[in-house]
Amino acid sequence: MNDKSLPEHTRVDIGGATLWPGFLDMAAQSEMVEDLRRLVSAAPLFSPETRFGRPMSVRMTSAGRYGWYSDRRHGYRYEPRHPSGVDWPPIPQSVLSVWQAVVPEARSPHACLVNFYGEGARMGLHQDRDEADFTQPVVSISLGDDGLFRIGGVDRGGPTKSVWLRSGDVLVLGGEARLAHHGVDRIRFGSSTLLREGGRINLTLRVVD
Ligand code: SIN
Ligand code: FE2
Repeated sequence: MNDKSLPEHTRVDIGGATLWPGFLDMAAQSEMVEDLRRLVSAAPLFSPETRFGRPMSVRMTSAGRYGWYSDRRHGYRYEPRHPSGVDWPPIPQSVLSVWQAVVPEARSPHACLVNFYGEGARMGLHQDRDEADFTQPVVSISLGDDGLFRIGGVDRGGPTKSVWLRSGDVLVLGGEARLAHHGVDRIRFGSSTLLREGGRINLTLRVVD
């Protein structure tokens, strides 16, 4: 990914969100995975609990000033430290560069959530609403296996659209779509060779305060 290649990128509207298919080429994806391996060794993946006390099927960690955490006792929230007590690692420059390229007018992100989907993992429809400033977008980066992403409206229960997010795709949830319901119904385990052991990584960058 570099600025010279930007005009070649096509953008597709998906239910009000903007998809940049194949934004990252293979070299950029591999570089990002290396950065994420270092990140995960400093701040290991864990399984958050839903606010109903069920373990989520995705495993997570974060980078940045804040990371996302959830348990039955206090529900969904941002925390200044990893559950082990260490600071969240800094957001890798390879990841920040994507934010700067696709939403150059936005504030700098405080948090990068790292979701890992192993075989059978999914994420139910939800809104990203633990942040204070909904004028700021959420930028999502997909790596590894294909994920069937579903997006609906701000109100729950309306019509939804589905799209397979592939390795290297970038999706911006901004404007009208900032509070759209979204989730991942399933992944196609083993569909990508990027991660040796298979699985899907999704990064979401957010402005928190
Ligand atoms: C999320 O909503 O946090 C993750 C979305 C995705 O995995 O594509
Ligand atoms: Fe989300």
